Amino acid sequence: MIVLGIETSCDETAVAVYDSARGLRSHCLYSQVATHAPFGGVVPELASRDHIRKLLPLVDAALARAGVVPGDLAGVAYTAGPGLVGALLVGATVGVGLAMGWGIPAVPVHHMEAHLLAALLEDDQPTFPFVALLVSGGHSLLVEVAGLGRYRILGETLDDAAGEAFDKGAKLLGLPYPGGPELAKLAGCGRSGRYRFPRPMLKAPGLDFSFSGLKTALALKVRELEAAGPLADDTRADLAADYQQAIVDTLVGKSVRALDATGHRQLVVAGGVGANRALREQLRAELSRTGGTVYYPRTEFCTDNGAMIAFTGYRRLELAPAAYSSVRVEARPRWPLEELTGS
Ligand code: KG4
Ligand code: ZN
Repeated sequence: MIVLGIETSCDETAVAVYDSARGLRSHCLYSQVATHAPFGGVVPELASRDHIRKLLPLVDAALARAGVVPGDLAGVAYTAGPGLVGALLVGATVGVGLAMGWGIPAVPVHHMEAHLLAALLEDDQPTFPFVALLVSGGHSLLVEVAGLGRYRILGETLDDAAGEAFDKGAKLLGLPYPGGPELAKLAGCGRSGRYRFPRPMLKAPGLDFSFSGLKTALALKVRELEAAGPLADDTRADLAADYQQAIVDTLVGKSVRALDATGHRQLVVAGGVGANRALREQLRAELSRTGGTVYYPRTEFCTDNGAMIAFTGYRRLELAPAAYSSVRVEARPRWPLEELTGS
């Protein structure tokens, strides 16, 4: 079964071809970073317009790179939500239009489910059940994944997402958009231990997160230090290192607690913040100490991509082909993960 996957939920236009017999055949991505950089964040209308410009050429490129023609496809999967509604509508209408024209089913995919399953694209992959730490720009969740579509939310952020904490921290340190990777880079040049930041909710029982207090602590520290003049480069790097360390300690502490609470030994890390090297190293070290195993999608599949959409579309189509027989364009800006059902 060969499935085309389309991702347009935010600021990446991405298309991929997944083949159940041969694995991932191609994946193409166009990032809108340069479009949004002058504005310091994603501008929804510009995102939609850019998806319109880039999507069909990317579909052609992904098919050509895979050596696949439309007649080989069993379905077209597209991200139906959650995300920016205008951006979602571009992928949904193009996906459904192509599927109709080619006479095959269109499969609406939940973006967060796709992130959860992205690690299954790798050779070294987890088996159900596992715990997933899903940390992106819009979400921070700990999820028990019992099987396809069998998700139980164990904990979530009460305010900012982990990616947002990185992005807002980056802004406070004067770094350009997109902030997360920039802050991580700066932190790599600094030494941690000079500034004390809170580990939000790490002492509190339960598995929820909260990052807005940490962001406020950084804002106050920056203001205090700036009273004596502009920050020196080494000060900014040390602030970044300690701020990143506080986020990483919190995510690692809660992840270990989620494994203990469920009795599962496998942790899957997904979403853009999963690309963070400090987080990956600390989780690997901590889990090898406690007898668990951590799995990651390859770095480029931690952030938004078409491969995870094509793969999830394939798994959904295989599970319930009859569910996709009618033509319907779905774009759901809000779509709770727990509404999904499955195997
Ligand atoms: O999953 P994703 O690509 O998009 C959403 O669905 O949100 O995640 C994007 C988020 C952004 O907040 C970005 O700053 C963060 O992931 N991010 C990182 C790194 N790479 C991306 N945060 C920390 N370190 C990184 N290396
Ligand atoms: Zn995402």
